[in-house]
Amino acid sequence: MVSRTACLLIALAAFLAKHVSSDEVFVIPKAPDLADQTNDNPGHSQRIVGGTESYLGEFPWQGLLLEQLSSISNFYRPFCGCSLLSNTWAITATHCTEGKTTSILYVAFGIFDQENDLDLSDLYSLLSVYDHPDYNSVTSRNDISLLRINGAVTFNSVIGSIALPLLNVSASPGTTCVISGWGSTVYQGTGSSTLRKADVPIIDNYICNSWYNSVRITIYSDQVCAGYELGGVDTCQGDSGGPLACKNSNGTYLLEGITSFGVGCATAERPGVYTRVSDYINWIGGIAGKYFKKSCSVI
Ligand SMILES: *[C@@H]1O[C@H](CO)[C@@H](O)[C@H](O)[C@H]1NC(C)=O
Ligand SMILES: *[C@@H]1O[C@H](CO)[C@@H](O)[C@H](O)[C@H]1NC(C)=O
Repeated sequence: MVSRTACLLIALAAFLAKHVSSDEVFVIPKAPDLADQTNDNPGHSQRIVGGTESYLGEFPWQGLLLEQLSSISNFYRPFCGCSLLSNTWAITATHCTEGKTTSILYVAFGIFDQENDLDLSDLYSLLSVYDHPDYNSVTSRNDISLLRINGAVTFNSVIGSIALPLLNVSASPGTTCVISGWGSTVYQGTGSSTLRKADVPIIDNYICNSWYNSVRITIYSDQVCAGYELGGVDTCQGDSGGPLACKNSNGTYLLEGITSFGVGCATAERPGVYTRVSDYINWIGGIAGKYFKKSCSVI
């Protein structure tokens, strides 16, 4: 899975050290560090584990969230994923954006190989970042953030939006969904240059809790687990904020989840945990709804 920010990881590690007896437990926010491999924080830098390479345009809503490392340099570090909801709104995880200055954040879409295909002309700055006000870094609840893009993203054959689920309507346990991202391909590995994907089934919250409760982690109703009992396929660090997409009955992809956290990556009985987007439709609509009517379009 992907991880969150360095300071958050340190805070979580400190929390877990106090509250969890087994040292195998390490909550991995699935965000940062695709480019910067110099830190030794074990929560950093992972990609999809057990997946395969995607092809350009397979997930037109998949975006990359980057931060400019210095206002005088043109070095932009990709550190999380995001999804395009319309040509002016994207959505990610709050653990990706929390504490970061809006003016240093950028998004890019239509990228396959983030090391080689990314040009300055692909970058959009942000007008606003709306972190969920009730985000909790200990429980990871409300790990969702809206990004108002500065300008309108041009939709084409490889860039487009993903539809939101209806309020309180989730994919059923057992539904096979798809995760995607540039995160690590192994736990504590480095980020992937190309966008990778994997199929994962939705896991019932009761079952997911029965697995996670042994390491004293609670999965709440506003979170959804996806993966396998035996592990092997998962999101990882660097995938945070990216999509868990599930097809509805008519074959349209809906944004079921936002990559949030895990314990390790692809470990048995430690599936990826995602923000359950269908619980946040009113929150999203309250902030961005009035813009969707004008700007939302479907590829
Ligand atoms: C959605 O779920 C929430 C939390 O369970 C509940 O309070 C709300 O009434 C539900 N709304 C609808 C329209 O089902
Ligand atoms: C399929 O589902 C999407 C998302 O809910 C909806 O927007 C669209 O109208 C549906 N299409 C058909 C043909 O029912």
